[in-house]
Amino acid sequence: MSKLAGITALGAYAPSKVLTNADFEAMMDTSDEWIITRTGIKRRHIAAEDEFTSHLAISSVADLIRRHGEGALAGVDMVIVATNTPDALFPATAALVQDHFGLKAGAFDLLAACPGWLYALSVAKAYVESGMCRKVLAIGAEALTKVMDWQDRATAVLFGDGAGAAVVEAVPAPYGLKSFVLGADGSGANQLHIRAVGRCLPSGEPLAEHLYMNGREVYKFAVRVMNTATIEALQRSGLHSDEIALFVPHQANLRIIEAARERLGLPPERVVVTVDEYGNNSTASIPLALAHALDAGRISDGDNLLLVSFGAGLTWAANVLTWGGAWHQ
Ligand code: ACO
Repeated sequence: MSKLAGITALGAYAPSKVLTNADFEAMMDTSDEWIITRTGIKRRHIAAEDEFTSHLAISSVADLIRRHGEGALAGVDMVIVATNTPDALFPATAALVQDHFGLKAGAFDLLAACPGWLYALSVAKAYVESGMCRKVLAIGAEALTKVMDWQDRATAVLFGDGAGAAVVEAVPAPYGLKSFVLGADGSGANQLHIRAVGRCLPSGEPLAEHLYMNGREVYKFAVRVMNTATIEALQRSGLHSDEIALFVPHQANLRIIEAARERLGLPPERVVVTVDEYGNNSTASIPLALAHALDAGRISDGDNLLLVSFGAGLTWAANVLTWGGAWHQ
C-alpha cells in the first residue's frame, strides 16, 4: 500500500490578552456561575486591536518552526488557511502566510466553519497521497472576537481567538491520516451566520451583521452529529473506540464534549479539554488542543487519535489518525 499522509509538525498560538468570566460580569448581565455551568468556559484569548487572522496564522507557524526547526517548512508547496474571519475577502489569508515565510507554494483559504481545519487536513491528505503536493501547510486561524456583538451575552462569552498549524506530508506505515467523515446540511444555514457581501439566506432571513447563533438548535445538532460522525469515522478506520488513545473534539462547550465522550465509552483521561482556557476559537480549536496534549506528554508515536468538529453551515467533520512517523523527529 502506498504511504498515507500524516502530520509531521505542529504549532499553535493564542493571543496574550485574556478575558475572564469576571471581566464579562463587569461588562454585561452574566455570571461566572452561568458561564461555567452551561459551557465550562473560564477564560478566552482575545486578539489585540491591530492583530488579525493573518498575524495569528503566522504566529502559529512561527511556533511550529520553534518546535520543529526551519526544515519543517522546506518543500511546502501548498498553504491552506481554514478560517471564517479572513483579513480580507481577497487576497487569501494563506497568500499572506506564503509571502511572510517566503514559500514557493500555492495558497488558498478554505471556509467550512469550525470544522474547517479538519476539512483542510482532508484536502492536504488528498493532495499528498495523489502526488500533487509534497508538503501542505494546513492552518486554522480565527479572529472571531472581531465579529462579535459585545452587547449579546448569549454569544460574546463563548468565543475566543487563536491559530494552529500543521505540516502534512507522506509518512511510513502505520502512521497517518486515516478515515475522514465530512458532512454538511445547508438547510441549517439560518442557525448560525454572519454577513459578508450577501444580504439574505435562501430562506429570505437577513444575514446577521455580527455572529448570530441559535444556541439551543446548534447544541442539539452538535450532540447528534458528534455521535454519528465519530462512530462513522471509527467504522471506516476499522478501529474500535477502545483503541483510541485520545479523543480531541472541537472545543465549543464542555457539556457537548462530555456527551460525546460518554457515548464513545471513553474515560475522562482520554479526552482533551481546553475550552476552559480558550472558549470556542473555531478552526483553531483542534490544533490548539493537540498542541496542549503534546506539551503535556499525552500523545506518543503510534497513538490513534479521534478528532471531530461541527459548526455553521451546518457542517461537521471527523477523522481517525495514527500519530507519528515524522522523518525529522
Ligand atoms: N449569562 C447569563 N444568562 C444567559 C447568558 C449569559 N451569558 N446567555 C444566555 N443567557 C440566558 C438566556 O437569555 C436564557 O434566559 P431565559 O430562559 O430567560 O430566556 C437562559 O440563559 C438559558 O438560555 P439557553 O440558550 O437555553 O441556554 P443553554 O443551556 O442552551 O446554553 C449555550 C446556551 C451555551 C449557547 C448552548 O446552547 C450551546 O452551547 N450551544 C451550542 C453552541 C456551539 O457549540 N456553537 C458552536 C458552533 S460555532 C461556529 O461554527 C462559529
